[in-house]
Amino acid sequence: VMKVNVDGTEHDLPAGTSAIDAVFASGGDVPYFCANSYLSPVGACRMCLVEAGTPRKNPDGTFIMEGDAPKIFWFPKPMASCTLQATEGMHIRSTSDAVKKGQAGMMEFTLINHPLDCPTCDKGGACELQDRAYEYGYGASRFGFDRRHADKHYPLSEHVILDQERCIHCKRCVRYFEEVPGQEVLDFIERGGHTFIDTQEGGLPEGFSGNITDICPVGALLDNVARFRGRNWEYDHAETTCTLCPVGCSITADARGGALERVVARENREVNEAWICDAGRFGHVFASENRLTVPMVRNADGVLEEASWDAAIEAMRAGLSGLDSADLALYLSADSTLEEGIAAAAFATLAGSESVDFSPRYAAGLDSQPPTLSELAQSDAVIVIGADLEQEAPVVELRIQEMLRGGLLPAEFAHGTAIADLRLVERPARKRERLAVFHSAPTRLGKQAGIVGHDSVMSVLEGLSGKGGSVEVRQAAELLRGAERPVIVVGAGVLNLGESALKLLRGLKANGLPVRVLPIPAASNSRGLGHLNLVPVAGGLGYGQLGRAKAALISRLDPGLAGGNARAAGFTIVHDSWLTATAKLADVVLPAVTGYEKKGTVVNLEGRLLPLAQAAIDAGESADLIRTLAAVAEALGVKTRVRGLRSAQTLLQERFGVDFAALPEEGLIAPMGNRYDAPTSPVVPQLWKPNMRRNDPILLPMAQSTSAFVAGDD
Ligand code: SF4
Ligand code: SF4
Ligand code: SF4
Ligand code: FES
Repeated sequence: VMKVNVDGTEHDLPAGTSAIDAVFASGGDVPYFCANSYLSPVGACRMCLVEAGTPRKNPDGTFIMEGDAPKIFWFPKPMASCTLQATEGMHIRSTSDAVKKGQAGMMEFTLINHPLDCPTCDKGGACELQDRAYEYGYGASRFGFDRRHADKHYPLSEHVILDQERCIHCKRCVRYFEEVPGQEVLDFIERGGHTFIDTQEGGLPEGFSGNITDICPVGALLDNVARFRGRNWEYDHAETTCTLCPVGCSITADARGGALERVVARENREVNEAWICDAGRFGHVFASENRLTVPMVRNADGVLEEASWDAAIEAMRAGLSGLDSADLALYLSADSTLEEGIAAAAFATLAGSESVDFSPRYAAGLDSQPPTLSELAQSDAVIVIGADLEQEAPVVELRIQEMLRGGLLPAEFAHGTAIADLRLVERPARKRERLAVFHSAPTRLGKQAGIVGHDSVMSVLEGLSGKGGSVEVRQAAELLRGAERPVIVVGAGVLNLGESALKLLRGLKANGLPVRVLPIPAASNSRGLGHLNLVPVAGGLGYGQLGRAKAALISRLDPGLAGGNARAAGFTIVHDSWLTATAKLADVVLPAVTGYEKKGTVVNLEGRLLPLAQAAIDAGESADLIRTLAAVAEALGVKTRVRGLRSAQTLLQERFGVDFAALPEEGLIAPMGNRYDAPTSPVVPQLWKPNMRRNDPILLPMAQSTSAFVAGDD
C-alpha cells in the first residue's frame, strides 16, 4: 500500500497502481481512449494527460522539504496517466488549468481528421469520442481545412466493417488480437494522417473477431450483422447470459421492433472477462426468424393448424383423456433453465410419471466442484483431452490463452477493473509448453500448444496414469507431474466413454496429483439439470425410448433430426420455438421462448448460477416450460405447485438454500452438491446437436453428441 495525493487529497492505493487508476480511485475522472482494462497500456492516444510530481530525497535519505512537507518536483509537462505508475508520495493534478488545456488540445488533434458523421454513425449515443469531446473538448472547432477522406465501408471480414475515416489510431484492436486470442492479424499501415488498420488477405479470422467492435472507442469497427439496424437509444437492452454453450458469457441482448438485432459482451471478471465468441455475437439471427408464435393443433384432416392456447388445452384434454397421467413422459432440452427443470420435476411427481429425461446429459462423478475459469487462467499446466473448444465452449480457449501469457488478471478497484494494469505487456511471451492438446483432429487451440497429439482418449488417460503412451502423452504426463495447479479439460464426448474413462480420471487425483478436472457439459444447462434428478425412475422410459411412450411432452428437443423416434406411440405434445421435424409430427405444438427471452437461471460449466433476463423479442404467444406445464396440467385437470417463475424459485430455494431471485450479476458458485443419480432404466445414446436448427452451423458452437455417462446404456 502506498500514499498518493490526488487533487489535494491523500489516498491509500495498492503498489503498482497506474496514475489513471489513482485518479479514478479518488473519485475523479480522466478522459482516455487507448487504455483498456484487459490490454497492455501503451499511451497511444495521449488523451489521459495529468500533471504529476514526486518528492525527492537528499543524499542522506531525508526528503527535500518545502516548509514542513516534502517538496514536490513536478514533471515539466503533463503526462499520459495510463502509462505512468503512481509511486509513494506522488502528487497528481487531474483538474488543473494546464491539464484541461492539454486534454482539450489533444481532443482537438483527435478531431482534426474525424468525420463527425454522428447522425449516421452506429456508435452515436454510445461513443467514447462523442462523450469525451462533449466533456473535455474546446466546445467549438477552429479547423477550417478539408478533412481526410477514406473508405467508409472497408470490410475486414464478413462480420466486421471498418470506417477508415473514424479510426482514431488508439491501437486497441491491434493489441487485442496480439494479446488476447494471440493472433497477429491486424496492424497499422501507411504513415501520419493516412495511417489505417488493415489485415492480411482473407480478412480477420473468425472465432473472437467481434470483440474489437466492442472495444473500438469510436464507430470505426462495426458489427456487420447489427450495422444500421438501430440507434443505440432505440434498443431495448437486456443484460443476460448467452445460452449457446455451457460457458454462459455475460451479454447484453439488444432488441428493436420486437427482433433481436445485436449481442454485445458484458464484463464478467469471473466468466468471460470482457469477451465473447463470434458465434455468441453474430449467431443470434435465428432467434428472430421463422418463429412459432401461436399454438398449433392437428385438425380432423390430420393437418396442423394455428390455434389459441385455450383450443390447444382443449385438444390436449381430448388427446390425453383415457390415459393415466403417469403415462405422460416428459423430455426436456438441456438448455432449459433450472426453474423449468424443477417445474418439470414437480409436474412429474404430481402426475406420477416415471418417464422424465433431459438431453444431453451431464456426467457427474468427477469433481463436484471443478476449477473456476479464473482458476483455469491461473493454473500452471492445462491438458485438454477430447475437446474441440472452438465448437464446445469457445471462451474457455481465451481463458487458457490467459494462462499461457502468465495468468495475470487485471486488478480490481472500487471503480471497477483497473483501467490500465501496468503488468500487462504488449506482445506477451506465451508459455506454450504448459499446454497439451489431444484430439482426434487438429484444433484451433492446438496451434497454441507446446504438446499436440491425436491419440485416443483412453490411451491419453492411461498414459497420464503412467501406463505407456506415445511421446506426446508421456510429455503431457511429465507436465502434469511437474505442475502445482494443473487442470485437465475433458470434452463432452469423453463422457460417452463411460465409467472406464471416468475411473482413470479419478485415479489421477487418487495418485496424489493436485489435478483438477473441468468437464465440458454438452449444453448450456446440462450441469444444472443434473442437480434435479430429471432421469427415468423405476422402469420409466428415457428420452431415447420416446417411441414406446404412451404420450409425451417434448420441450425444445428435436430427436427427429437425429433420425430417432420423433414422436411417442400415442398423443404427442411438442414445445418448441420452430416448426422442427419433430414438431411437424406432433398432435399439439406449443410455441416456446428461446434462451434470449427467458427469465431464470442456468448453471455453467464451473457450476456457477447465472441469471437470464428477457430480451424484448416479439415471440407472440410463446411461453416457457413452466407456463406450458401449467397448461398441460390444466388439460389433465390437476394443479401443479409450480405455476410461474416465483413458485419455481421458491422450490429451488427450499432445495438448494440459494436465493434465486437475487443472484449477483456475475453469478454465484453455489454449493448445490452433486445430486445426480444414474437412471434406473437404460438410456439410448443420442445424437443431438443444439445448433442443427440454427442458420449458420459453421459459426455456432456445437455440443458433442452425448448421452453423458450413464451406466448400462443400450
Ligand atoms: Fe460521432 Fe463517435 Fe461516430 Fe465519430 S465515432 S462519428 S464521434 S458517433
Ligand atoms: Fe482504435 Fe478503432 Fe482505430 Fe482500432 S479501429 S485503432 S480500435 S479507433
Ligand atoms: Fe460465450 Fe459460449 Fe455464448 Fe460464445 S457461445 S458467447 S463462448 S456462452
Ligand atoms: Fe491513451 Fe493514456 S495515452 S489512454
